[in-house]
Amino acid sequence: MKNIVLIGFMGTGKTSTGRLLAGRLNRPFVDVDKKIEKETGLAISDIFQLYGEDHFRQLEREVISRVARYTNTIIATGGGVVLKQENMVRLKNTGIIISLTASLDTILERTSRRGVRPLLDCEDRAERVARLFQERASLYMRADYTIDTSCMPPHQVTEKIIGLLREGGYLRGRSKS
Ligand code: S3P
Repeated sequence: MKNIVLIGFMGTGKTSTGRLLAGRLNRPFVDVDKKIEKETGLAISDIFQLYGEDHFRQLEREVISRVARYTNTIIATGGGVVLKQENMVRLKNTGIIISLTASLDTILERTSRRGVRPLLDCEDRAERVARLFQERASLYMRADYTIDTSCMPPHQVTEKIIGLLREGGYLRGRSKS
């Protein structure tokens, strides 16, 4: 079975939804950022601070090249995975891509905890979110399905994804409820 890959901006619910989806479908779950943290022994914010964004993107690319070879797995990516086309080519080869989106207000609220997302640790978070969102909007649209999570908690997004996968003929048999 193909992987199910969640992409989307920071704060759209990729990790929480991915974990729930994996539980519902009884499949393995991998979170790319968590894997990078585990393998380097460093928090993402420390990697940015110590080595810079380019270095993080190289680590991300390397982990993506490995997880894209998995099968049957739910993969939650970091928001910037779309910035490298080769990441998306690899993930698409073996997976169904589901893009999670949300309104800017929702993203700002969900990402308000400081120190976790280095790209948003700045004076004017609203401006930064709006700019990055705008720069990346067309990249997030290159998905098999897109779901607006602004008004949906992760368990509802999970059910929505299961419904879409069923309709698309990607899921057979019963999933746990
Ligand atoms: C990033 C998103 C983060 C993390 C890193 C860079 C981005 O992941 O990979 O801080 O460029 O959008 P989340 O989307 O899980 O917050």
